[in-house]
Amino acid sequence: MKIIALNGTYRPGETTTRLAAKALEGAASAGAHTEMVVLKEHTIEFCRNCLTCYQDLESEIAPCPIEDDVRPILEKIRDADGIILASPVHSGFVTGLMVSFLERASWTLLRPTGELLGLKGVPEPRLTGKARGFVVILSAGLIPTELRQYCDMGTPFLTEWASVALNGELVGDLYAGAFFTKGLSDEEWSKAHFFRQLTENQFQQAFDLGAKLAGAVRSGEIRPYDAKRIEAAYLQAAQPA
Ligand SMILES: Cc1cc2nc3c(=O)[nH]c(=O)nc-3n(C[C@H](O)[C@H](O)[C@H](O)COP(=O)(O)O)c2cc1C
Repeated sequence: MKIIALNGTYRPGETTTRLAAKALEGAASAGAHTEMVVLKEHTIEFCRNCLTCYQDLESEIAPCPIEDDVRPILEKIRDADGIILASPVHSGFVTGLMVSFLERASWTLLRPTGELLGLKGVPEPRLTGKARGFVVILSAGLIPTELRQYCDMGTPFLTEWASVALNGELVGDLYAGAFFTKGLSDEEWSKAHFFRQLTENQFQQAFDLGAKLAGAVRSGEIRPYDAKRIEAAYLQAAQPA
């Protein structure tokens, strides 16, 4: 069983990386082979919207004319059984680096031949050989966990993308909100990012999440992407209360 972390931080070694590493430790404790992919350590150019990938309906990983480090990372995703998607919260979302990578991974891992809610040409997975479990870990610098709802557009975005592109299911998520070891003065609040700490509880939650991911993969309980199931969930959410 292989579990990889895709890490969208700009500061390798800081909060996102430490949490993702803990999650990988948890996965390893449950028997997984693990690997951290720090996107910043790779050359990832912007998508050029040439639609080469989009037009290829056959390949498991569609071709891209840009010769950088994206293809080997896509192959790691293909080979993995579980993925940890980790990013700092930037402007309530994920980092631009994470988005840049996911743009490049979009039509290379997705095929525009799906059908949903009466629409044709919507994404469906290319990687249909197996279902992959995934978890989402976000690290915030100012907004505490209890106010997550005001500052977390990243988790639903990553979950929606990954359910299709990874042909799998969300196993769990962690929003590691800001925590300050001391009460901050009015002046210090403007520098709050410098006082941000991770808690033992957050590390434990990351560890447990990694172990849960590995357990779910091993038990075979991860369901592949199913447009009908997604469609039913959309329709149910659209019902008036
Ligand atoms: C451009 C930018 C935007 C940010 N936006 C937010 C935000 O909306 N909410 C928040 O809680 N923290 C925000 N932060 C703080 C980061 O989430 C925080 O520093 C995080 O721990 C960074 O992860 P890292 O330690 O892996 O770099 C922002 C930081 C930057 C640089």
